[in-house]
Amino acid sequence: MRYLTAGESHGPRLTAIIEGIPAGLPLTAEDINEDLKRRQGGYGRGDRMKIESDQVVFTSGVRHGKTTGAPITMDVINKDHQKWLDIMSAEDIEDRLKSKRKITHPRPGHADLVGGIKYRFDDLRNSLERSSARETTMRVAVGAVAKRLLAELNMETANHVVVFGGKEIDVPENLTVAEIKERAAQSEVSIVNQEREQEIKDYIDQIKRDGDTIGGVVETVVGGVPVGLGSYVQWDRKLDARLAQAVVSINAFKGVEFGLGFEAGYRKGSQVMDEILWSEEDGYTRRTNNLGGFEGGMTNGQPIVVRGVMKPIPTLYKPLMSVDIETHEPYKATVERSDPTALPAAGVVMEAVVATVLAQEILEKFSSDNLEELKEAVAKHRDYTKNY
Ligand SMILES: Cc1cc2nc3c(=O)[nH]c(=O)nc-3n(C[C@H](O)[C@H](O)[C@H](O)COP(=O)(O)O)c2cc1C
Repeated sequence: MRYLTAGESHGPRLTAIIEGIPAGLPLTAEDINEDLKRRQGGYGRGDRMKIESDQVVFTSGVRHGKTTGAPITMDVINKDHQKWLDIMSAEDIEDRLKSKRKITHPRPGHADLVGGIKYRFDDLRNSLERSSARETTMRVAVGAVAKRLLAELNMETANHVVVFGGKEIDVPENLTVAEIKERAAQSEVSIVNQEREQEIKDYIDQIKRDGDTIGGVVETVVGGVPVGLGSYVQWDRKLDARLAQAVVSINAFKGVEFGLGFEAGYRKGSQVMDEILWSEEDGYTRRTNNLGGFEGGMTNGQPIVVRGVMKPIPTLYKPLMSVDIETHEPYKATVERSDPTALPAAGVVMEAVVATVLAQEILEKFSSDNLEELKEAVAKHRDYTKNY
C-alpha cells in the first residue's frame, strides 16, 4: 500500500491517492469526515477551523460503500480558496496582483526562508502554501482508511496528550486502548485525566493572551497487534524505525520514543526488559510493556505505545525578528494565522500516520486482493502464534 498527498493551504483542493487497499473494505465518507473533524477541533484552535469543516469526496476506488481494489482518490475542497482566486491562480496574473499577500518576511521555525533559497522563489508564499500543516488533512484522511482496515482485523488505535507545554498529565495506570480513546474523546484538550482539564484550558488561554505558543508530547497506542510485523533482517524493515520516520515527518514533530523511551537510559536492564509469560488462553504475553510493543524491530503482540514531541507552533502573534529577503533589512516576521497550540489536532495526525504505517506493514506481510482473504490470513497467523 502506498499513497501520495497533494494540494496547497489556500489552493482549490487537497488530494490523496492510495493504492493497495484490498477490495471489499466497507468505507464511507463519514468514516473519514469524523477524523477530519477531530483534526480541526481541540481547545485553542482559531478561525480557519470554523471556516473549513472538511468533507471528503471519493472520486475513485470506492463503489456502493466498498473499496474495489483500484486506487482510492480522496478530495477535500478548501472552502476559503474563493477568497484566494488571484493569489493562488494557476494561470499567470498581472504583476500588480502578484504582490497581494506576497511574503518577503520569512517566519522563524517555518519552511519559508530555506524553501525560498532552495527553490529560488522571490515570493515565500510558494514555500508556505505546501509546507503548511494543512497538508496533514490528507494524512488524516489516508489514516482513516487505514484505521478502517485495522478495525476489520480487530486492531484499535487511540491518541492522547501526555505533556501540555511542560505540564505533565498523570495518566491512570492500565487503561485499555478503548478507555484511552473514550476519555480523550470527552476532553477538549485530548487528555485522559479529567481533573486536569480546566487547568490546561486556563493555561492555553494564558498563552494566547501572551501572544505565545506551546508544544508538548502526544501518545498513540495500538491494541490487537499481531506478533511479528516488521523485521530485524534489514535496517529499513524495522517497524519501530518506520513508525519513527512517519511520526517525525509530521509538521513540528521533533522526536519520538517507544514505551519507556528515553527513560530507559536512566534505568537498569532488570527494570526495563519485559518478562515473558505463557498461558493456554492467551499464548505468549509480557509482565510489563516497557518496550512499547517492539523487540528487534518487530511487534511482540503487546500494545504499541509511541510518543512524539511537538515543538511550539512557530507563528507568534508576538512576532519574532526576521529579515526582508528583498532589502535584507531587519523586519518582524509575517503572521499568516496561528493558534496558541495544535496539540490535540497533532495527536489525531499522529494516530493517522501510525495507523497508515501499520496497514502498510499488514499488507506487506499478508498481501491480499480482498478483505476476506486478508482476514483469513491474519486469523490463521494469530492461531499459529498462540500455539507456537
Ligand atoms: C496539526 C498541526 C497544526 C499546525 N498549525 C500551525 C499553525 O497554526 N501555525 C503555525 O505556525 N504552525 C503550525 N503547525 C506547525 C508548522 O506546520 C510547522 O512547524 C512548520 O511547517 C515547519 O515544519 P517543522 O516544524 O517540521 O520544521 C502545525 C502543525 C500541526 C501538526
